[in-house]
Amino acid sequence: MSRPRIFVTRILPEKGMQRLQPLSEEYELEIWPDPLPPPPEALQTRAAGAQGLLCMLTDRIDAALMDGMGPSCKVISQMAVGFDNIDIAAASRRRIPVGNTPGVLTDTTADFAWALLMAAARRVVESDKFTRAGLWKSWGPVDFLGPDITGATLGIVGFGRIGQGVARRARGFDMRLLYHDVQRQEEAERNCPAEYVDLPTLLRESDFVSLHTALTPETYHLMNRERLGQMKPGAILINTARGPVVDPAALYQALKEGPLAYAALDVTEPEPIPPGDPLLTLDNIIVAPHIASASIQTRNKMAAMAVANLEAGLRGRRLPNCVNPHVYP
Ligand code: GLV
Ligand code: GLV
Repeated sequence: MSRPRIFVTRILPEKGMQRLQPLSEEYELEIWPDPLPPPPEALQTRAAGAQGLLCMLTDRIDAALMDGMGPSCKVISQMAVGFDNIDIAAASRRRIPVGNTPGVLTDTTADFAWALLMAAARRVVESDKFTRAGLWKSWGPVDFLGPDITGATLGIVGFGRIGQGVARRARGFDMRLLYHDVQRQEEAERNCPAEYVDLPTLLRESDFVSLHTALTPETYHLMNRERLGQMKPGAILINTARGPVVDPAALYQALKEGPLAYAALDVTEPEPIPPGDPLLTLDNIIVAPHIASASIQTRNKMAAMAVANLEAGLRGRRLPNCVNPHVYP
């Protein structure tokens, strides 16, 4: 009799691979070996009939894929906190629990949002390119000027774990802190003082705006032409959430014609951003390839957590971190 199958869509960081190993005694463990994700057809074929799927945010997990997996599917475990690539409603209808990896990447992602904020304000990437191009001829009194971070106003859109992490770090810079969320987060405010304001006020008053919302139908192109137009002249936008929270055409215009001075993105629409994208012709933007959680420790923790969710699902236990717990009675 053939053993039940597990499909893992990428090679995991070391701690994840170590935790997967013991499962290979009971399960046929298939790991996609390429550095790039399985193309949709390959994903469909490999996932078909599997009892467990460990996937990434680069995999589109839709109803058709779940139908292909069939009734043997016991768990979908994603190695990410975000899960907008998975049709959760479709999984719930099939009573498939879906796991994610919250908490372990909060600080690492907040650190990276700060890295982008500071790199944009102080033009670190641009000035490095300048140096490498042999253009540094002298210290210059008006070269590479950017706005001060200390004492500025930081507006946080989405005051969840990561948004609060970004806010906590701002204290060291004596910043005024504003936040917006669908509702006031009084509990969070106690640990992390920040002023709750509506979005237009936040956009009008913030020198820096950092996005930390999940991608949902409500936040798709939240930062559109109108909202970007409401930002303070010279403001800087940081996006470490999801690319489609920002309308890229509107962002291009806001960076080219104002009011934005700079943007720093870890996420784009689409991903990866094509090399010919108009945004990449601008000097006042930094684009990182979706690496905010990419610390050695954090990626190992995310992988271990994803395997723990996978294993619990395979054994019919409740996932330690389940995004659709209503599948349980
Ligand atoms: C990364 O973007 C994640 O959702 O974990
Ligand atoms: C700059 O390097 C200074 O000494 O002011």
